[in-house]
Amino acid sequence: MILVTGATGKVGSEAVRLLAAQHHPTRALVRDPSRAPHGDVEIVTGDFDRPDTLDAAMRGIDTVLLVSPAVPAQEIAVIDSAVHHGVTHIVKITSKASADSPVDRRWGQAQIEAHLDATGLAYTLLRSNAYMQNLLALAPMIKRTQGFLMSAGDGQVGMIDAHDVAATAAAVSISPREHAGRSYWLTGPDLITYTDVAKELSDTLGHAVEYRQIPPDEHRAAMIRAGVPEAVATSNAQAFGLIAEGDAAWLSDDVESITGTPPHSLHTFIADHVKAFI
Ligand SMILES: NC(=O)c1ccc[n+]([C@@H]2O[C@H](COP(=O)([O-])OP(=O)(O)OC[C@H]3O[C@@H](n4cnc5c(N)ncnc54)[C@H](OP(=O)(O)O)[C@@H]3O)[C@@H](O)[C@H]2O)c1
Repeated sequence: MILVTGATGKVGSEAVRLLAAQHHPTRALVRDPSRAPHGDVEIVTGDFDRPDTLDAAMRGIDTVLLVSPAVPAQEIAVIDSAVHHGVTHIVKITSKASADSPVDRRWGQAQIEAHLDATGLAYTLLRSNAYMQNLLALAPMIKRTQGFLMSAGDGQVGMIDAHDVAATAAAVSISPREHAGRSYWLTGPDLITYTDVAKELSDTLGHAVEYRQIPPDEHRAAMIRAGVPEAVATSNAQAFGLIAEGDAAWLSDDVESITGTPPHSLHTFIADHVKAFI
């Protein structure tokens, strides 16, 4: 049986939907059962900060699909519980992690990966480029001002629909042995700049959407003024600054080679989510 954590989030909810649709024995870990995914799936209530709830969720599980906001202590608690209960494989959703990254969430991921590696458990890492779903956070500003502030310069991003991350994660979780010890780099089909995003939105919405380029420090201040917690605004601004320098300009065909289906394009993503921007 597969345990999916973060099962109300972007990747987890879609992975559960796909696994349930294939009638693969699946348990979804949620904090709030009223928000649990529907379908042919077992629901377990749990919290990463409460190890007793993780232990209860782990019983009878072979594979864990580990998705979370990637707070090291929380994911390490899940990994330790999995080891304790004889789980045989962890499929971990991660990013372009590195121990010396200036972005705290990236070195946090590196810390979790090092812990996972030290357990000796079989695992697979799914390293994604930026999710297209991040664009939905720009929707309120676009609706209000017909444009958006961004500090990614002309940097290209191999942006991916989180549903393609979920589809890949579901496929790997169903056949984990084939993927043991592998790291995959998940991207969409194209390298995209925020100028491309503005053009795609303009074409789809039928009115001009302006990309207002600002430097990362101004962007950080604007995010804080808009209510983003200071630590998150700092990480976001650092990540956008890195994008401007070409850090996210990478593509791979790992989604298609694992799922057999090409990943969604930006055009399709925006068409699917057009209502959010109106
Ligand atoms: N966003 C990107 O561009 C990007 C790019 C590359 C990699 N990633 C990686 O993607 C992962 C995040 O995936 P996602 O975007 O699908 O996450 P998400 O949509 O933010 O969902 C987070 C999930 O974790 C659950 N959760 C949070 N705190 C919890 C707790 N204390 N106990 C139990 N569950 C808890 C949430 O439950 P509630 O619904 O109850 O809050 C939710 O189901 C991270 O590892 C991140 O590094 C993201």
